[in-house]
Amino acid sequence: MSETCYLTTPIYYPSDRLHIGHTYCTVATDTLARYHRLRGEEVLFLTGTDEHGQKIEDKAREANVTPKAFVDAIVEGPRGVKDLWKLMNISNDRFIRTTDDYHVKAIQRIFKRLYDNGDIYKGVYKGKYCKPCESFWTDSQLKDGCCPDCGRPVADAEEEAYFFRLSKYAGKIRDLLENTDFLQPRSRVNEMVRNFIDPGLEDLCVSRTSFTWGIPVDFDPKHVVYVWVDALSNYITALGYENNRYDDYHKWWPGINIVGKEIVRFHSIIWPAMLMSLGEPLPKHVFGHGWLLLDGGKMSKSKGNVVDPYILAEKFGVDALRFFLMRTFPFGSDGNFSNEALIQTINTDLANDLGNLVSRTTAMVEKYFGGTLPADQLEQPEADGELTALAAGLRARYAADMDTFAPHKALEEVFKVIQRANKYIDENAPWTLAKDMEANGARLARVMYNLLESTRICAILLTPFMPSSMEKLFAQTGAGPDVQTWDSAARWGSLPPTTTVSKGENLFPRLEMDKALAELEAAEAEAKKAALPALELEPQAEETVDFDTFCKSDFRVVKVKACEPVKKSNKLLKFTLDDGTGTDRQILSGIAMYYKPEELVGKTLVAIVNLPPRKMMGLDSCGMLISAVHKEKGAEQLNLLMLNDAIPAGAKLC
Ligand code: MSP
Repeated sequence: MSETCYLTTPIYYPSDRLHIGHTYCTVATDTLARYHRLRGEEVLFLTGTDEHGQKIEDKAREANVTPKAFVDAIVEGPRGVKDLWKLMNISNDRFIRTTDDYHVKAIQRIFKRLYDNGDIYKGVYKGKYCKPCESFWTDSQLKDGCCPDCGRPVADAEEEAYFFRLSKYAGKIRDLLENTDFLQPRSRVNEMVRNFIDPGLEDLCVSRTSFTWGIPVDFDPKHVVYVWVDALSNYITALGYENNRYDDYHKWWPGINIVGKEIVRFHSIIWPAMLMSLGEPLPKHVFGHGWLLLDGGKMSKSKGNVVDPYILAEKFGVDALRFFLMRTFPFGSDGNFSNEALIQTINTDLANDLGNLVSRTTAMVEKYFGGTLPADQLEQPEADGELTALAAGLRARYAADMDTFAPHKALEEVFKVIQRANKYIDENAPWTLAKDMEANGARLARVMYNLLESTRICAILLTPFMPSSMEKLFAQTGAGPDVQTWDSAARWGSLPPTTTVSKGENLFPRLEMDKALAELEAAEAEAKKAALPALELEPQAEETVDFDTFCKSDFRVVKVKACEPVKKSNKLLKFTLDDGTGTDRQILSGIAMYYKPEELVGKTLVAIVNLPPRKMMGLDSCGMLISAVHKEKGAEQLNLLMLNDAIPAGAKLC
């Protein structure tokens, strides 16, 4: 039976479009997954999205859509998460969304199991609360003592919450980190122990009542499961743990979790503690990679400095981008992203070194031998030995690096062989040999063979990094499927001597730095323009209305005293309004899909109050609330007209 290997990326927050940093993490995991498949292992590769939490709830509200509609658009919509992974040739076998039914049910069961075995208990969450944002913050999250979102003052507050007994596992986690190779790279161990274990592990708040976009705790539904229990469990619910959607938990788990450095803490402390509590095996490894930085700082949507992987892939090709990410940044450390570095890498490694090796070799085999090498070949151990030994031993060095999460080092090894092969061309000067084919034909054939054979071995090992380009390269250099295998990568001489090449397209054309940078800038500007929401406005009315008729419409400022859904209607909300007359006014409005009733209480709105009363669902509606309506990407958007709360109820609009 072949070995199994289960690899995961973190699940991404679909609160915004993903950028090059997220792409880096997924491409790296994909490269490792493809490497293990190449070795003949059975691989399951999981990625997905982490869709619950207050941030997404807030973003959806801002966009005036439900949280589910919001995440659906980012995950499934055009140029969304799934589209991006398709574009980047990501070979994930499964994609989990934490809003998937099976995951939701499994989380409720997992939460209950932790509760039943005494590791979750009810307590009081204390924090700093920002009333307008309805958010709790910790002291360290505050900005100058105020809410980091709106800048307003916060107050001490408490809410009932469930806690996970993380403190109970401190000793076992320390042991796991210090005495096993669970957490990689090793340099992250100290960081975790010093910053989190040494100061003392506190129990972890695992439920909230202050927002609703989460998985309800089924035995206490005013609580929603607070993000990390929900998110971390994805690695096992996606295998059928506590659900029936899949049934291969025991086949795949434990796996390897690849994550970015800022979430190593959750994966190397909370995650193993949860698994210990559930009595399940721990991940084989958690690997914490570094960040791609921009100008030495973090990329973030709020700074407006994120790099769009779509533009780069479309401009330079998916494989060139994949390669650049893996070649340039040592996997465990931070690195500075720049367009210049990308173009430089494409030119140096792909166009000059690899591209030239392939195009020169295939062109010479065509020119000197009509495309097919003769069987009569003359080896010269002294001249050939260094290249052949280097190429023959490449697979072992490469595997050692890939197995220790160092794909950048594996690539370095491959490129040493490519560079050696280019040097070998110059040393053996095929053009001189070709001047006397009768005397030197057999030697020339062997020189060409050695070049093709070195290229073949490199191409096999580059396949996890650049899958589709290597397919083309095999076709150009005449390496058939049986000599594209992992086994054959360690067998110098596997390529049949009488190989036929077919010179094809230039796989990695050289780029002109200034021109490429300018084109990139133009593409980025174009994309920014296209990203502005296309407004589809109602055409303005052509018919005029006379002034006296208009003046008969009585628009008044109203304050919402109460608002509730109308029973059996999924459209209508019932408003009780203060219109300044001293008597409450009732208005029904068909806006339930745009607003939650509780968020409108206290708001200052505008109503026309002299429409004749109308009955709707058996209730009187005396007037109409005024909204602004437009379409965005085909979907109707509605915003109630909201005024400054200082304007008194009853004020007339004229
Ligand atoms: N949803 C959580 C993860 C839950 S996993 C159970 C999350 N999501 S995230 O979208 O914010 O980040 C996902 C991953 O992208 C993290 O591993 C993070 O390190 C990575 N990256 C985000 N920006 C990055 C860079 N600029 N560079 C490299 N990776 C970075 O955290």
